[in-house]
Amino acid sequence: MKYNLRAIKNLLPERTQILPVIKNDAYGHGLIETAKALAEEKVFGFGISELYEAKILRKAGLIHPLILLSGFEKDWLSDIKTLRVIPTVTNLVSLEWLIDFTLKKALSMEFHLKIDTGMHRFGIELNELPKVVKLLRENPQLQLKGLMTHLACSERPEDPLFQAQIDNFEKAREFLKNEGFNISFIHFCNSGGIIFHKGDKGNLVRPGIALYGGYPSNRARAYIKLKPVMTLRSKVVELKKLKAGESAGYGPTFFAKRDSVLGLVPVGYGDGYPRILSNRGFASVRGRRVSIVATISMKALYLDLTDVEDPQRGEDVILLGGPNEEVPVDELAQLADTISYELFCNLGKSIPRKYI
Ligand SMILES: Cc1ncc(COP(=O)(O)O)c(C=O)c1O
Repeated sequence: MKYNLRAIKNLLPERTQILPVIKNDAYGHGLIETAKALAEEKVFGFGISELYEAKILRKAGLIHPLILLSGFEKDWLSDIKTLRVIPTVTNLVSLEWLIDFTLKKALSMEFHLKIDTGMHRFGIELNELPKVVKLLRENPQLQLKGLMTHLACSERPEDPLFQAQIDNFEKAREFLKNEGFNISFIHFCNSGGIIFHKGDKGNLVRPGIALYGGYPSNRARAYIKLKPVMTLRSKVVELKKLKAGESAGYGPTFFAKRDSVLGLVPVGYGDGYPRILSNRGFASVRGRRVSIVATISMKALYLDLTDVEDPQRGEDVILLGGPNEEVPVDELAQLADTISYELFCNLGKSIPRKYI
């Protein structure tokens, strides 16, 4: 992961600060372990999406700034203050909550403001900015520390929405500047933005997937070399010899076209391994690709080991990642009709992890 962090830094000017996004258990890689590893490098702080993540991180002794990227609920504010979390205001209602809270408690508080520049998910609309300015002038206890937006198609810079979002963000920034706000942190680049946006990338960036070794799109491979962080390993626990025409597994959906040797691996959809990869996916055994055949069950899948010489019970299997990217996450994700993010989150959740 540190290698990936450095690869990301190499694409950025020296002064740009990094806010690794470690929400959702660091995309299935482990919240505390990820934060601790990255804290050994130079990062500004961490982006999270739930309050409980801040509780875990503070309990583990992390002192870095934590930005709650996804907005907040009214009753989170007291914990936000205690845990020294920087909230993100994503609508006028949450700004009002922040005002009420700081007035009642006679506190001052820093926050970041998220602008909806066209993704239409979370964020203040551009036409709401005059109201925001008015409220902030009336409430000097609030300090607007950061301005942010999120890009909907950062992996496809040719999409008109990409530039439209950048332009809208620039408008918001100009407007606030002209109103006299001097905002310390300007951030809008996720991994795709860092890799593909050619212009100014702001002074803080928020990489997620690239830190974990996932490419935002295949084209990104031309600009950055990443290493898989998560490798899913298992073993062949059973060998089955099939005669041509015989079937295996539920359904059955697989019939051997030739005399075959199948290896059973004790990983299935109950472990977050997508069932849709039945008869579609692949794994790596002794450095060679082998097909997943038959229907994946809750706790088992079959590999076609017919072309592996004298396959053994106990054979090591790489189901994802690998030291030489034997099973690239984006390739597997594509076969599973999903994205690397989802594979990481689902696999990371239930399979025992070992950190090396
Ligand atoms: C607000 C925000 N910033 C940054 C990221 C990181 O994005 P990526 O994993 O594509 O780098 C996310 C992830 O969804 C996000 O929601």
